[in-house]
Amino acid sequence: MNQKRFIILLTLLIFFLIHVDKTHGSCYPIGVRKDCDKEWDGANIIDASWVPGAPILNITTYVPDGGNGPNYPEAFGHFTFGNDQVKHRFLKKPIFVNDHHCTYTSPDEKNPYVSYWPHDGSLRPAPGTWVGIWLAIYWRCNRLDGHIPKKVQCCHKNVFKNIYVNQ
Ligand SMILES: *[C@@H]1O[C@H](CO)[C@@H](O)[C@H](O)[C@H]1NC(C)=O
Repeated sequence: MNQKRFIILLTLLIFFLIHVDKTHGSCYPIGVRKDCDKEWDGANIIDASWVPGAPILNITTYVPDGGNGPNYPEAFGHFTFGNDQVKHRFLKKPIFVNDHHCTYTSPDEKNPYVSYWPHDGSLRPAPGTWVGIWLAIYWRCNRLDGHIPKKVQCCHKNVFKNIYVNQ
């Protein structure tokens, strides 16, 4: 009886781990690093606009170098925009961006980093309105946490920018 229960629990645990692994991909960023002070002040959204006539947000992020070599924006999370009229969430859990993969820094990573985020056309902010953008920026994602599923330790900062939609 006890052994049966143990086997059932073990099976459930394995299915749970497989599910977590699938929803996160093979590795994912976590913003737990504390050795980020130098870059922290300057990490930000330096520009954001909507592509003229299209429901696509064009966002430029930047992370200063911190003395340990160059830095790049490497993952985004908690990414939303909104005002009184429209609201949209691009991301809740963080994902790697800018050609970064797990702990591997690609030679194609850019800083500043420009990226385009399409969304449902009905949610495009109207020209002549203000929109808030919330984003968690991650950088220095190069340290494995050593657990299953693979967590990649990064620096991170939650930023906010209010922008005027020109067109
Ligand atoms: C996106 O924003 C960047 C930075 O401001 C700008 O250089 C680029 O031309 C923009 N792209 C489009 C398609 O508007």
